[in-house]
Amino acid sequence: MIIRSRKKSDIPSSEITPEPAYIDRRRFLGTSAGIGAAAFLAPGAAAAAPPSGRQDEKLNTWEEITTHNNFYEFGLDKKDPSRNAHALVTKPWTVKVDGLCNKPGDYRLEDFIHPSTIEDRVYRFRCVEAWSMVIPWRGFPLADVINRAEPDPGANYVSFETLWDPEQMPERRWRPVIGWPYREGLRLDEALHPLSLLVTGLYGKTLPNQNGAPLRLIVPWKYGFKSIKSVVRMTFTAEEPPTTWATQSPREYGFYSNVNPDVRHPRWSQATEKRIDGGKLFGYRRIDTVFMNGYADEVAHLYEGMDLKKYF
Ligand code: MTE
Repeated sequence: MIIRSRKKSDIPSSEITPEPAYIDRRRFLGTSAGIGAAAFLAPGAAAAAPPSGRQDEKLNTWEEITTHNNFYEFGLDKKDPSRNAHALVTKPWTVKVDGLCNKPGDYRLEDFIHPSTIEDRVYRFRCVEAWSMVIPWRGFPLADVINRAEPDPGANYVSFETLWDPEQMPERRWRPVIGWPYREGLRLDEALHPLSLLVTGLYGKTLPNQNGAPLRLIVPWKYGFKSIKSVVRMTFTAEEPPTTWATQSPREYGFYSNVNPDVRHPRWSQATEKRIDGGKLFGYRRIDTVFMNGYADEVAHLYEGMDLKKYF
């Protein structure tokens, strides 16, 4: 396993370890005034106080990460995806690349992934519903596939689509309100940022269906709904693409959706979050939410001069 250069916000994984070894290790994702900086503590090492007083952020368990999910195509309850997503057929899988680029095509998943180096990255994950976890993802930089697609100079955004197959996805019976397929998008510079990850696994294992197998996006400084699952299409566009939640309820969900404790969701505060915790599901600690989820040091420059209350 080759690990790329360490970034401040990464918790480096010096090796691929099974879950018990992962969760035995003590890790901090320390933050200093909202600035992401991470340190890794070897087992048994003395724990220095996290700089901002933010609590110890240990990894969530496999069980928590795989049974507390949002994947509305498989139902609205947090447990529905783990109950129902076994119906999703992930092999064979094709990703269509189209729009404003030199190398459009229908790529077999294996070919899409193959040229990239797979890495393990521990990221905070903050849902817009104000719960959060710390998750050891396995994947590769989104920038890899963007660069291989050779976007045209006129491409300013990239949009993503989830598979929509009513035969495999029971949500058709329960609430056919959302205009499936699920759609998300990023500005091209956000997508090219080294923190933006295409994920194929977690805890060193293949990604479970309920977490968005076989390929999902993770953008750790944004609310979780930007991290689209089971991606079948990437399209380069000149204009900001329509996205599922921003279309559904534009007052509540913006295109940018950077984690921001100062911008309320119209129905609840975003100042704090419930860290799913304690081994038993739905046990949690309430902790302060950090600007850009603790990754501001790396990504805040992308939004210089933008009014983040207007472009939320
Ligand atoms: N992608 C699709 N296709 N459908 C969804 O319902 N939910 C989003 C995001 N990606 C969603 C999706 C939301 S709201 C969140 S918080 C995360 O997936 C949840 O990811 P997890 O279940 O792996 O924690």
